[in-house]
Amino acid sequence: MSFEKNILCIGAGYVGGPTMAMIAYKCPQYRVTVVDIDPERIAQWNSDDLPIYEPGLEEIVKAARGKNLFFSTEIEAGIRESEIIFVSVNTPTKTFGAGAGMAADLQYWDKTARQIRKYSKSNKIIVEKSTLPVKTAQAMERILTSADNGIRFDVLSNPEFLAEGTAIKDLQDPDRVLIGSTQTPNGLKARDVLVEIYSNWIRRERIITSNIWSSELSKLVANAFLAQRISSINSISALCEKADADVEEVARAVGMDSRVGNKFLNASVGFGGSCFKKDILNLVYLCRHYDLKEVADYWEGVVRINDYQKERFILNMLNIMFNTLANKRICLFGFAFKSDTGDTRESPAIFVAKRLIEEKARVVITDPKALKNAMKDLESIAGEIAYVEDPYEASAGCSAIAVMTEWAIYADLDFKKIYRSMDKPAFIFDGRNILDHKKLFEIGFNVFPIGKPGLTHF
Ligand SMILES: NC(=O)c1ccc[n+]([C@@H]2O[C@H](COP(=O)([O-])OP(=O)(O)OC[C@H]3O[C@@H](n4cnc5c(N)ncnc54)[C@H](O)[C@@H]3O)[C@@H](O)[C@H]2O)c1
Repeated sequence: MSFEKNILCIGAGYVGGPTMAMIAYKCPQYRVTVVDIDPERIAQWNSDDLPIYEPGLEEIVKAARGKNLFFSTEIEAGIRESEIIFVSVNTPTKTFGAGAGMAADLQYWDKTARQIRKYSKSNKIIVEKSTLPVKTAQAMERILTSADNGIRFDVLSNPEFLAEGTAIKDLQDPDRVLIGSTQTPNGLKARDVLVEIYSNWIRRERIITSNIWSSELSKLVANAFLAQRISSINSISALCEKADADVEEVARAVGMDSRVGNKFLNASVGFGGSCFKKDILNLVYLCRHYDLKEVADYWEGVVRINDYQKERFILNMLNIMFNTLANKRICLFGFAFKSDTGDTRESPAIFVAKRLIEEKARVVITDPKALKNAMKDLESIAGEIAYVEDPYEASAGCSAIAVMTEWAIYADLDFKKIYRSMDKPAFIFDGRNILDHKKLFEIGFNVFPIGKPGLTHF
């Protein structure tokens, strides 16, 4: 069978896999191939046990795989045979040299550009899906055209706005799709090809276009604004705890102002995920590069408040549990950075687990989807850590439960049964404010939510 377009995606991760699965599912007339340097990841995409958990993902992968969706390690052939190449490789924070701890590490990106240049035999449209610093598209175009072999490359920016946990819903019905291009005739022509792909299932008015640098910057700014709301309400949660106010009541009153809105106003132990911190630091680095010190400091404050909130959580536990956690069993309910994902990158639970071990506590971790990742995250930590899938078994014999992830299952547990099995006095630190605190208190727990007065029996 011949296909209308051959699409390749380089990078089969949390973005590349679901995004391409959606394109293939919605557009049977296109052949979509996803390649990766990691053979294990590709083998998992080709198996019944997909490498990432995302509600609804399995269904669409199974519907398209083997028909017009393929996962492969054959990067060279993939590049040769495609007209459109999405690049969705990881762009973590640099850990070495200039900009360490702040700038984006572009080594995977650079390597991919060189691979595309090496193996291309015909003109291609290259789509930046990864989140990148402003002007990366220009750098990519320079690498690609430096071979001077007569092959034309048009680079577009098409940042991905999906949120893990709701990726399929977000891809199926996005608030917007953003496509940035150069404003030259060739750039606009390439942009229209990408608009046509998305138009297969997304209303035209939701597909917005811009110049390429606005597009690159919009992704960093969108994440900075989202994280800023969380840090704003988390900073207020600290004040609420001192002033006997209730952060949920404050958030409700503030969020009902239609100019503010009620989303992303839940106080918590802090935000996590692979993107928020890295993208804000990337923005901060850009601002410093352009000598905008005040702007850089403003956005860096969002990350500082997040670090403060995580540390505050631990210090509260320590203070409330009679200033020692040594030898106490403490159960973490959830390890993923949010519910409905197995992803633990930058999860506050990593920080909390490490700090508990430093305090010589014995840590028990339970999570419905993230235990494998939790084991990897903590493998180098010397201390007593157990991983138990069943939350009842995990919390038995513990002095405290700390809720780290807002998994819906935790709100529905039989807490009377849990209370009976725990060491007394039993504590619950609800880092996501998802439990019924009054009911827990009545059962006998000492309950400490975020941003509200604690409920204690002594
Ligand atoms: N995870 C999210 O929710 C999310 C949302 C929006 C945007 N993003 C951005 O998307 C990009 C990818 O993020 P992710 O979470 O999918 O990362 P990921 O680490 O899950 O996946 C990246 C994949 O790229 C592969 N890779 C690296 N170099 C390669 C190369 N030269 N050739 C082939 N494969 C290569 C890696 O093996 C890995 O499997 C990042 O820039 C991220 O900031 C992520």
